[in-house]
Amino acid sequence: MCDNKLFEGKTALITGASKRIGRAIALGLACEGANVVVHYRASKAEAEQLAAEIRALGPNAWTIQADLSVLDEIDQLIDRACDIAGPLHILVNNASAFPRNTLDNLTFDALIDSIKTDAWAPFALSRSFAAKPGAQHIVNLLDTRIYSSYDFSHVAYLSAKHLLGLFTKMLAIKLAPEIAVNAVAPGLILPPEGKGMDYLESLKDELPLKRIGNPQQVADAVLYLVSSEFITGQVIFVDGGRHLNEVSRG
Ligand SMILES: NC(=O)c1ccc[n+]([C@@H]2O[C@H](COP(=O)([O-])OP(=O)(O)OC[C@H]3O[C@@H](n4cnc5c(N)ncnc54)[C@H](OP(=O)(O)O)[C@@H]3O)[C@@H](O)[C@H]2O)c1
Repeated sequence: MCDNKLFEGKTALITGASKRIGRAIALGLACEGANVVVHYRASKAEAEQLAAEIRALGPNAWTIQADLSVLDEIDQLIDRACDIAGPLHILVNNASAFPRNTLDNLTFDALIDSIKTDAWAPFALSRSFAAKPGAQHIVNLLDTRIYSSYDFSHVAYLSAKHLLGLFTKMLAIKLAPEIAVNAVAPGLILPPEGKGMDYLESLKDELPLKRIGNPQQVADAVLYLVSSEFITGQVIFVDGGRHLNEVSRG
């Protein structure tokens, strides 16, 4: 059981919440008293397990399935979440796809797929969320590389995250003063599918702080943003200083 209850009476929808960073964010918010709608696409068992863990902490929790590469499912998700959980106060756009593509083999369809899941879905969910009573905070998960370097192996993903960074700033202006819109840009936190922690360990010496991070540190940044009433349009880098790399190498 957790003692502090910063978000008692609030309800958060977190996309892609069943595992990894999304799970840490969900548990972090729940530890502070928030009820949580755990969105998942394929990880049903993990989502239900997480919802049970959250209920054991005290708050309520529900699971909701949607494929955020399908436009109709994006359009319906906020209404469906409100139907099961009541008014939503916090939206965390965490779900993301990480397909491999290079400048040589990138196709238009692959670019659109990434834009759908990693930029359009967060944008459209934010717009629907903002139209409902109770909406207060949106946090988008970006990637530190949109500020410091290029990832030539995940061109569509990185392009979509750039767009989400732009949406974050524009929505911060458009949705003020009722709603704060911020972002967290993680760096080396968890390895992508098919790679182990040794992959991240091999990269850590390139970072100013020379260590990798963890999901709790990302969750802490999200919690800080949604607990503030005076921050909007901000990006917190949880990246060991990676976004400074171009400067530090200069
Ligand atoms: N991991 C890192 O070190 C790192 C670094 C930089 C940025 N980030 C960003 O931080 C966030 C969390 O990272 P992560 O590594 O924990 O994410 P992840 O494991 O790659 O993905 C999170 C969830 O997104 C969901 N998802 C993927 N495609 C979807 C779709 N079409 N519709 C609905 N849900 C979909 C999946 O849900 P299901 O399992 O239910 O299918 C998945 O569990 C992401 O936005 C990521 O880009 C992470």
